Amino acid sequence: MAARPVLDALAGDPALVLGVATGESPRPIYRALAQAHAAGTDFSRMRCFALDEYVGLPADHPASYHAVIRRELVEPLGLDTAEVHVPDGMADDLLAVCATYEAAIRAAGGIAVQLLGIGADGHIGFNEPTSSLASRTRIKTLTARTRRDNAQFFGDSAVPTQCVTQGLGTILEARHLVLVAFGERKAEGVAAAVEGPVSARCPASVIQLHPHVTVILDEAAAAELELSEYYRSTYATKPSWQQL
Ligand code: F6R
Repeated sequence: MAARPVLDALAGDPALVLGVATGESPRPIYRALAQAHAAGTDFSRMRCFALDEYVGLPADHPASYHAVIRRELVEPLGLDTAEVHVPDGMADDLLAVCATYEAAIRAAGGIAVQLLGIGADGHIGFNEPTSSLASRTRIKTLTARTRRDNAQFFGDSAVPTQCVTQGLGTILEARHLVLVAFGERKAEGVAAAVEGPVSARCPASVIQLHPHVTVILDEAAAAELELSEYYRSTYATKPSWQQL
């Protein structure tokens, strides 16, 4: 079900531009896409842009987003590596990397579907609390909480302190945002993002400014939503002409 927006968009455009998140949250989507590929769906023309990458982490480090995207998307889906873009966090000139990344997204015609996870602190991409709601791709410093949360992917090595991330303004330009969250650890951030005030304190709340957002949650991640009965009945009675 969570892969549906991607598969539907791909059916309409084999050269779909997909914005991809890394981490735990999108994995069920990537597994479903891999199953679709095994069943015959062609992903060879799909283009991808990652949300972010750590600064100073070589692309062959298993926790680098270059490596994650290669493992979880490029190989299982048979993507064309020339069409899979991840910011180069090892470059000497990171400001140029950020500007070039923005230009590459524009040159591709913009991102059609952007997959998003959410950090426990409400970040999307690596836009940590107090990020400008108008921000563009740039260098950010990770919070201690995000570095702790991501330590599980690093084994004995230290989690980098900085990253290159698409900005909130960049993310808002994607034509469809699909935010996925699972588990009680996300409940507070999800409630703040969906029902709280739009505020840089919870960067994910910027999704409220976007005209087309799909939020996919399990019960635990939805637990702190005040209007969950309304969302359930809205979904149950969704007219058949209204797609995700
Ligand atoms: C990763 C990203 C982050 C994660 C978020 C949640 O590319 O942009 O915003 O989506 O940190 O991570 P997980 O899904 O591992 O809980």
